[in-house]
Amino acid sequence: MTNSFIKTAVIGHPINHSKSPLIHNYWLDSYGLSGSYEAIDISTKNLKRSVQDLINQGYKGFNVTVPHKIAIMNLCDEIDELAHEIGAVNTVSIRNKKLYGTNSDAYGFIQNIKQNVPDFDFTAGKAVVLGAGGAANAVIYALLHENVPEIIILNRTKEKSKALTALDRRKLVAGEWKMRNDYLSNSNLIVNTTALGMSGKPPLEIDLTSAPKTALVTDIVYAPLHTDLLKQAKDRDLRTVTGIGMLLHQARTGFKLWNGVMPSVTKELEKLVLK
Ligand code: ATR
Repeated sequence: MTNSFIKTAVIGHPINHSKSPLIHNYWLDSYGLSGSYEAIDISTKNLKRSVQDLINQGYKGFNVTVPHKIAIMNLCDEIDELAHEIGAVNTVSIRNKKLYGTNSDAYGFIQNIKQNVPDFDFTAGKAVVLGAGGAANAVIYALLHENVPEIIILNRTKEKSKALTALDRRKLVAGEWKMRNDYLSNSNLIVNTTALGMSGKPPLEIDLTSAPKTALVTDIVYAPLHTDLLKQAKDRDLRTVTGIGMLLHQARTGFKLWNGVMPSVTKELEKLVLK
């Protein structure tokens, strides 16, 4: 297959830890496409100028990571509804020197569950979401679109969980972080979106005793892959989905937009990224 050379990238600061080049270059190779995907370190003060450089150099698009996911919104010519609602842009396409922003985190979160537990019924009961940061916003948006009937948001800082309930006041409830174990009975889905349990961060203290056997437990943390939360869930015979798939599935959106091919998430890719 031949195509014109397509230049893409991920921008952020710091950026050397990013797995995105590995993912996109694996797909470029797998699909025999000619293009590049680099990690470009851009500081906050250089964001505008550096993005203009990418436009001038003919880039087709780029992913955006910490700390630019909100600041990039001001530089976009258009932002889709999804990114508006999530309040952040992580995927930008460049067409006729104009920037079009979207957000692929909600898609990545849902596709990860659908690929790993195809018969999971999002509508079967309430979801409990731990955390109320940017990742929680995308997860909650995604769950509302899957018609989850009720979502309890539990966050250390309650103002943030309360603010998120504005996405849908009929379905979203801000609970008490300290009482988190008490909200797990009758839950259909339990999601950790906090950084707790990540290598180098404090543990996530939670007791899954009251979670029903039918509950699915997922973590957006993927380092370690099998977090203490997921280990505890497995020990209780609950279904689990690790966080790596969210990273891989969210990357598909940009790849499709820029290269015209919807790439697959394979076990081989997962292994490569976890190495
Ligand atoms: P992201 O965009 O990845 O979600 P974030 O916006 O910094 O990152 O959010 C991090 C989440 O982890 C927040 O919900 C945060 O809780 P606060 O809003 O109270 O800060 C949560 N978090 C981080 N450290 C925590 C800790 N030690 N205990 C409880 N929650 C913590």
